[in-house]
Amino acid sequence: MRVLGIETSCDETGIALFDSERGLLADALYSQVAVHEEYGGVVPELASRDHVRKALPLIDRVLSEAACSSAEIDGIAYTAGPGLVGALMVGASLARGLAMGWGLPVLGIHHMEGHLLAPMLEPDPPQYPFVALLVSGGHTQLVRVDGLGLYRMLGESLDDAAGEAFDKAAKMLGQLYPGGPHIARLAESGEPGRFTFPRPMVNRPGLDFSFSGLKTFTLNTIAEHGGRDGIDEQTRADVACAFQTAVVETLVIKCRRALEQEDLKTLVIAGGVSANIRLRESLHKALAKMAGRVFYPAPEYCTDNGAMIAYAGCQRMLCGQRDGEDARVRPRWPMDELSAPVAVETDAGSC
Ligand code: KG4
Ligand code: ZN
Repeated sequence: MRVLGIETSCDETGIALFDSERGLLADALYSQVAVHEEYGGVVPELASRDHVRKALPLIDRVLSEAACSSAEIDGIAYTAGPGLVGALMVGASLARGLAMGWGLPVLGIHHMEGHLLAPMLEPDPPQYPFVALLVSGGHTQLVRVDGLGLYRMLGESLDDAAGEAFDKAAKMLGQLYPGGPHIARLAESGEPGRFTFPRPMVNRPGLDFSFSGLKTFTLNTIAEHGGRDGIDEQTRADVACAFQTAVVETLVIKCRRALEQEDLKTLVIAGGVSANIRLRESLHKALAKMAGRVFYPAPEYCTDNGAMIAYAGCQRMLCGQRDGEDARVRPRWPMDELSAPVAVETDAGSC
C-alpha cells in the first residue's frame, strides 16, 4: 500500500510518500522558522497562510522525486490534531480535496502517534511493547505502547512541555525561536557544575513532570548575572548547560522509573527534543545499566515531518481504517482516546 502523508499541524509543512513494501519513497519539508523567528513564537495565522502556499508545490515535488503518479497512490493521510486549528484545516482540506479528486480513501492521524511511530522508519525498529517518551514543543508524555493504537498514558507534564521550557529558557538568554537547538549549542561551551538547577518532581513518586519551577530558577539566575542583555558569554553558556543538564536528568530519571514500573526494557524517544544529543547519550548510558535499549528517529524525523504521518496512515489504512463523513480536525485530542484499528483485509494488503 502506498500512502501520501501531509503534516501541517504547526510551523512545518511536511509531505511524504510511504510504501508498505518499499519503505519511504520520498519526503519534503518546508520549515517556517524564518517567518516566526522575529515574533519569538509561532503566529497561527501566518502559519496557516504559509501552509497554503507551500503544501501543493511540495506534493508535486514528492511525487516527481518518487516518479509516482496519483494513480499509483492508495490513500492520503493528514494530521488531524492536536495542533493549531487553522494550520490543521489547511492540511485536512487539501487531503480531502485531493482524495475526492483522485478517488482515494483519506484518514486523519494523531500528530503524537506520528511522532511515536517515527522510530519505525529506521532500519532497526523497536518491537512492541515499549515505553515511549514523547518530548515536543507541546507535549511531554510517557506512554506504554503495546501495539498500534494501544497506548496507556503513564505520566505527562502538569505545565510546560520540555520543548516549550527549552524555548522559554532560550528566549531568556536572548536566543531565537525555536530555542532547543540554541540551548544545546550554547551548552557545549558551558562549564558543567558552575550552576546546579533543580530536577523538578524527581523526589516525588509518580511519572508526571513539571518544568515551570525550573523556568523561574533560570530567570532568577540570569537576573542575578546581568539579565538577558548584560550577561557575559561564558555565563550564558553555563546557564544553558545547567538548564539542559537539569531537563535531561529529570527525563532520564522518569524514563527509568517508567520502565521499572512496567517491567520493560525498551524505550522509544520521539518529538523535537529527542534530537538533543545529551538526552540521547544519557538515555543510552541509563538503559545500558538496565540491560535495555533506547530507540529514536533519525534527526530529521524527530521534529515535525510528513514521513511519520505517511507511515502511521499506512499502518492504519492497511487495517481498512478510513475517515467517515463526520471527520473533523481536533486542535485538542488526548492521545489515550485513540484505539487500535480493527483488522480487515483490503485490496492493497492487510495489517
Ligand atoms: O516535535 P516538534 O518539531 O514540534 C512539536 O510538535 O511541538 O518539536 C519542537 C520542539 C521545540 O520546542 C524545539 O525547541 C525542540 O523541539 N527541539 C530541541 C532540539 N531540537 C528541537 N530541544 C532540545 N534540543 C534540541 N536539539
Ligand atoms: Zn510535533
